[in-house]
Amino acid sequence: MDFRPLARRRLPAPLFHYIDGGADDEWTLNNNTTAFERYELLPNQLRDVSRIDLGTRVLGTDLSMPLLLSPTGMNRLFHHEREPAVARAAGKAGILYSLSTMGNSSIEEVAGAGAGPKMFQIYIFKDRGLTREFVERAKDAGYQALCLTVDTPLAGNRERDLRTGMVMPPRFTWKSLASFAASPHWTWHYLRNHDFRMANVAHRVDALGAGAMSLIDYVNSQFDRALSWEDAAWLAEQWPGPFVIKGLQSPADARRAAEIGASAIMISNHGGRQLDSAPAPVDCIAPIRDAVGDALELIVDGGVRRATHIVKALALGANACSFGRPYLYALAAGGQAGVERMLTLLRCELEKTMALMGCRSIAELDESVLVGGNRNTDERRDQFRPVQGHHARRGISS
Ligand SMILES: Cc1cc2nc3c(=O)[nH]c(=O)nc-3n(C[C@H](O)[C@H](O)[C@H](O)COP(=O)(O)O)c2cc1C
Repeated sequence: MDFRPLARRRLPAPLFHYIDGGADDEWTLNNNTTAFERYELLPNQLRDVSRIDLGTRVLGTDLSMPLLLSPTGMNRLFHHEREPAVARAAGKAGILYSLSTMGNSSIEEVAGAGAGPKMFQIYIFKDRGLTREFVERAKDAGYQALCLTVDTPLAGNRERDLRTGMVMPPRFTWKSLASFAASPHWTWHYLRNHDFRMANVAHRVDALGAGAMSLIDYVNSQFDRALSWEDAAWLAEQWPGPFVIKGLQSPADARRAAEIGASAIMISNHGGRQLDSAPAPVDCIAPIRDAVGDALELIVDGGVRRATHIVKALALGANACSFGRPYLYALAAGGQAGVERMLTLLRCELEKTMALMGCRSIAELDESVLVGGNRNTDERRDQFRPVQGHHARRGISS
């Protein structure tokens, strides 16, 4: 999709790179997408593909195609129309929108933005009272699902942000002045209104007293490195509907998620923004499906850029895919209209791919349409067997 170069033109450099970048050497970021290339699609010909049905049911909700929009914080950074614009575009497309705790729009405002299904992404903050408050507000506002992100005990090492002078909230610095000047549309809206507050937590900081702590410092201070499965189980008990854990990659963690009552997991490495060297989500699908059977719905999040990626993920055993950057680029490029256009193009691409595959419905996608990649059970077992020390890797017997 061509929204990335458009976003690059529209946004001041620090903000574009904040979306685009990943942790450390960005190996995981890049591998998330290139890993899809290791799988090939095997079409079946001479089937009647005059009608293609992309519909599916995930998290107790009917979706018009097997796609969710992942939670992303602070969308006001990228376009003045913020999160409600994305939620409305998702609703029009008949897919599920996820609101981040770190959004610039409140749980209640987004609930009223479009008629589509919504999920609230939560963190378990040190202040459990605030976490409980989020749960109650999301229930009252009618969110379909709750999603706990677990791969952020602390922020990943994003070196692009250091190089570009990205600060939160955005400020003109000597380093970035030229790029703000080169983005007149964005800068015009910035000058008219630069309220970048995280709408769902702002009241907590206000309660601390003016100037006591900046919002960003407050949120950073709330990440709890001591979180455990007991905390996740506690949260699952608070939520009556579908409960999702986002940021798992190992079969053992997936099993644990099923045991504590999760209905789904998002197989995710946070889009390569946290642990660099984490495996690509697509490579984790088959081993996790083997481990949990039908006990969990699997949503594959990270690196999905093409309809063929969605088809491959579903054939490997996923129930749906999810993405972040593609809709952020589209939002930056054209607000709600940009996101709508991107989703329309993706739907057309998906219909075309399904027809070329000889598949009429999502249910027809299984391993029989795949060649290559990480599918063979023995290969999978080998891949997830821990390497026994340096000697094993170098072939030196101990
Ligand atoms: C700018 C940006 C902000 C993000 N903010 C959050 C967040 O607040 N909560 C969260 O769980 N994930 C967050 N993510 C991760 C996304 O939910 C998702 O896992 C990731 O974007 C998937 O990779 P993709 O961008 O390749 O699709 C963010 C990602 C980006 C790019």
